[in-house]
Amino acid sequence: MSDDDRARWDARYAERPSATTGSIGLPTVFRPFVAKFPSAGSALDVACGDGAAAVWLASRGMDVLGVDVSPVAVRRATELAAAAGVAQRCRFVVADLDEGLPDGPVADVILCLAFRDARLDAEITARLTPGGLLAASALSEVGGHTGRFRIAPGELDRAFGHLDVLASGESDGRAWLLARR
Ligand SMILES: C[S@@+](CC[C@H](N)C(=O)[O-])C[C@H]1O[C@@H](n2cnc3c(N)ncnc32)[C@H](O)[C@@H]1O
Repeated sequence: MSDDDRARWDARYAERPSATTGSIGLPTVFRPFVAKFPSAGSALDVACGDGAAAVWLASRGMDVLGVDVSPVAVRRATELAAAAGVAQRCRFVVADLDEGLPDGPVADVILCLAFRDARLDAEITARLTPGGLLAASALSEVGGHTGRFRIAPGELDRAFGHLDVLASGESDGRAWLLARR
């Protein structure tokens, strides 16, 4: 990622108030499937942002690694984990996913929420344990606008349709998918 893009993400996080423990949780579309998420094991949050979903997994008992290019987001996520009392189960690192996933062990859950980089698809699949759960979402052209960060109709299903897809949807400018390896 260019320094300008990284600075833009940093600025976006810096201008928002810090996340509070009230923000911890999964995005709305995944909430009907909460019971599918394990409460032990390891998780990877790809482009974790300020950590609301990662900290939710940790608060259920998972050990979570969150990765984001924005140092401001990573600091916010670290603070959120501390505020939620789960700092010991969370590690947040600054890394540029343009370089691929950072090295690490396989994960029982991978989150890739509101972020899409098709170059990571094979690595994400390979990083899941057998039976591991992937929750992915992205801005979509379906019911929304076209644009640099919006994926084409059906892209998530094409990317991860070889997994056991438990649920997926695409409307109102958002696509999401929940799948098991
Ligand atoms: C729309 S936010 C989503 C954050 C979080 N997953 C969520 O659902 O709230 C997209 C995130 O991707 C991160 N990001 C964008 N490009 C990245 C890259 N090349 N490497 C790592 N993180 C990146 C941004 O810093 C930002 O936190």
